Amino acid sequence: MSSRRNFLQQSIACFSLSAIPTGLMAGEKVRHYQLTAEPTPNFFDDKPVPTNLWLYNRQSPGPLISATKGDILDVEFINNLKQPTTIHWHGIRNINEMDGVPDLTQAAVEPGERFRYRFPLNDAGTFWYHAHNKAWEQVARGLYGPLIVWDSDEISGDRDVLIVADDWLINEEEQIDATSFGSLGHWSHGGRLGNALSINGKFAPSLPIPSAGPVRLRLINTANARVLTFALSSAASGNMPEDQSGDQAGDPSDNLVLRVINIDGSPCAPFDVDRVTLGPAQRVDLEISDASQLKTLLEISTGQTLEAASFKSIATVQTEQTRLTESRPYYPQPNTTNAKLVDIHMQGGAMGNLSSAIFEGEMRGLRDLAVNEQKLWAFNGNIGGYDHILAEINLGEVVVVRVWNDSAWPHSMHLHGQHFWVNSREFGTEQRPLLRDTYLLQPREKADLVFVADNPGMWLFHCHMLEHHASGMGGVIAVS
Ligand code: C2O
Ligand code: CU
Repeated sequence: MSSRRNFLQQSIACFSLSAIPTGLMAGEKVRHYQLTAEPTPNFFDDKPVPTNLWLYNRQSPGPLISATKGDILDVEFINNLKQPTTIHWHGIRNINEMDGVPDLTQAAVEPGERFRYRFPLNDAGTFWYHAHNKAWEQVARGLYGPLIVWDSDEISGDRDVLIVADDWLINEEEQIDATSFGSLGHWSHGGRLGNALSINGKFAPSLPIPSAGPVRLRLINTANARVLTFALSSAASGNMPEDQSGDQAGDPSDNLVLRVINIDGSPCAPFDVDRVTLGPAQRVDLEISDASQLKTLLEISTGQTLEAASFKSIATVQTEQTRLTESRPYYPQPNTTNAKLVDIHMQGGAMGNLSSAIFEGEMRGLRDLAVNEQKLWAFNGNIGGYDHILAEINLGEVVVVRVWNDSAWPHSMHLHGQHFWVNSREFGTEQRPLLRDTYLLQPREKADLVFVADNPGMWLFHCHMLEHHASGMGGVIAVS
C-alpha cells in the first residue's frame, strides 16, 4: 500500500493547488473559465500513470475557480468524454437551470457538446464542483475541482491553504479500479471505498505555509463515500520507516487545537476541536493561530494514523492577517412555528430493515430490486430517483426536513440550492446549530434540516455517498 502510494505520488496529479494566488482583480465582475472534461491517459511526462482517469483540463483536482462574492461566474464547458455529463456547483445557492442535474435542471451535455454555465456568486465560502451524471463513476475517475468565493474584503494569499482530499480505489496495475464500478457490495454497504488518499491530487504531498502567524485551511472531502477524519500535528512527518507509515499511531499530545470557522462555506460561531470529520462533499475551514506549529496533516478515521500531508514553511511576503471570523451565516435560524414538515424515512442497504419498496410504481422485494435493478435504498418506501417528488413547497415557506436514518450506515445528506440549519452531532457530543448544505447522519439518527425556501426550482436532495444516491437515496424538493 505504501509503495503504491509512493509510486503514484508523482503521477496521479498534475498541479498542487495548495496556496491560493493573490491578485483577485478587484472590480472584475465576470469570471471566465473554460472547463473540458476528458479522458486523461498520460499527463505527467513519461512516468507510469493511471491511464484511465477522467479529469477537467487534465488536472487533478480540476482547476481552482476563484472569484469574489457578487461576481458572475461564466464557465464554458466542453464534454470530451464518451458519455454524457453535467457539472454541479456544490453548495452554491444557484439558479435552478444552472444547478447541473441531468434530466432535472438541464439535458445532459452529450459527448462533443458544450454548455455554458453562467450564474451569480452570492455567497462567499469554500465550495466545489463535480460531475453529476453517473457521478459514482465520473467523480471516482477525477471529475471535480475546488471553487472558492472570497468576501470582497478578505485578504487572500499564502495564509489561505486549500486541502482537497480524495479517496481513490487503485488496482494492482496502478489503474483506477474499473471492474468494481457498479459493485453491488459497495452499493449496499458503505459505498466505494478507496485504498489511497490524495491531497490536492498528490499522495502525501508537502504543502507550503507561512513560517508564522495565522493560517486558514480549507478542507474539502471529494471522496465518493469515505468519511474522513483529520487532525493536525506539531510533530514532523517523515520519521517513520516507509512501510510502516500507515501503521503507527501519532502521539495525540502533539495534536493542535483546530478552530472551526466555516462549515460548508458558511461562517459559524467559531469553536475548538481536536479533530474534524468530513462526510463526502462536506467542507470545513479551520483557523490555526500559529503556523509555526503546523507540521503534519493526519487522517485517523480508520483507527490508524495516516500522514496525509506535511507542511513546509516558506518565507511569507504577506504580513497582513487574514480576516477570518467576522462574517455571519448566510441567514439566521428561521422560526419554525408555521413550518412545513417533510418527513423522510431512510431505509435499505445491507443489514437494514427494508424488505420491499415501490420502484417505478410497482411494489417489489428488495432482493429482486437489488439483483435486477441495482436498487437498494428508499425514502418513505420509494426507491428514489430524479422523478421522485418528496415535497412541493411554496416559495418563502420555512421547511423542516425531518430525516430519520433507519439504516445501518451513515449517510451524507445533501440538499441542492440552499443551506439548512441543523442541530449537528458531528463535532463531539454537544449539539451545535450549524448552517450546512450536507449533513452526516449516523445510523439511527434523526435530525431536522431547516431552511427558508426562498430559491425557486426543482432541488435534489440525496445521499452524497454516490453509490447510495444511484441506488435509490434521492428525491426532489420542488419550490415554486
Ligand atoms: Cu455534490 Cu447532488 O451533489
Ligand atoms: Cu448514503
